[in-house]
Amino acid sequence: MSKDLGPESLTEAVIDSFKDTADPRLKAILESLTRNLHNFVRQVSPSISEWEAAINFLTATGRKCDDVRQEFILLSDVLGVSMLVETINDQETPDATDSTVLGPFHMVESPERHLGDNISSESDGDVCVVRGRVLSVTGLPIPNARIDVWQANTTGFYDVQQPGIQSVGNGRGLFRTDENGAFHFRSVVPSFYPIPTDGPVGGLLKASGRHPYRPAHIHFIVTAAGFKELTTHIFIGGSEYIDSDAVFAVKESLIKSFTPNEDPAAAAEFGVDSPFIEGVIDILLHPESQSPSSRFQVSEEVVR
Ligand code: BEZ
Ligand code: FE
Repeated sequence: MSKDLGPESLTEAVIDSFKDTADPRLKAILESLTRNLHNFVRQVSPSISEWEAAINFLTATGRKCDDVRQEFILLSDVLGVSMLVETINDQETPDATDSTVLGPFHMVESPERHLGDNISSESDGDVCVVRGRVLSVTGLPIPNARIDVWQANTTGFYDVQQPGIQSVGNGRGLFRTDENGAFHFRSVVPSFYPIPTDGPVGGLLKASGRHPYRPAHIHFIVTAAGFKELTTHIFIGGSEYIDSDAVFAVKESLIKSFTPNEDPAAAAEFGVDSPFIEGVIDILLHPESQSPSSRFQVSEEVVR
């Protein structure tokens, strides 16, 4: 009998080659990767030069990565993979506030601030107050929760994208909720903005006629002892691109209207001129899971 492998038996031979993998989770991942990747290749049936172009694209993606740029995450984002992973993991905590992508601009420590501080004192634009509470999924306030926020300015740039124009920390803040689980801070209403397009991912968007824009949003990472960490955004209702986010990260529940508040007493309380723009979000955290995850662990040796 011939030892030559046809397209189908080749797939089975590769899967069989992983049969002694000690870590069961890793074994399952390698088998599934092989089966799905081979199916994809059979379906696309690439020419040799197309296969080379794919290798070159991935090589260029790796070369674009450095300490402050992660082109592979951007690729995962525009292919909807980051959001798929978020959504799968969200299903474990259905009552908590929806999560969404981290994005590449959380690369510096946010400055510690006091409740009510202005995080965007260097930015021109409509002053807004963002406020809300951090609660458990059962509705109990969580005092002393840590809220890390970061946002673009009114021209659509993060501080780290504009050295010499914005100082690092503009548009960022680390807050703690008060004894009622409440928080508030001042800022400017951010603008929509394009994701970085000067690398291979930008080329992919261009070649496919896709725009690179994300609707206006403010990022949050919320942590509290005994609760599962939440990474999310608040999206500015009515923003351009709210229905066509380049990274598919909008969830209906995270869209909040930023509306004028005309109450002079509220303006005085927050230290802003009346009327001001206000965005409100309550953030629900899920208790940290006590039971071990049902997933098998991938060994650290391979992850490295
Ligand atoms: C962001 O919101 O900062 C972002 C998310 C994904 C890709 C690029 C930017
Ligand atoms: Fe962002």
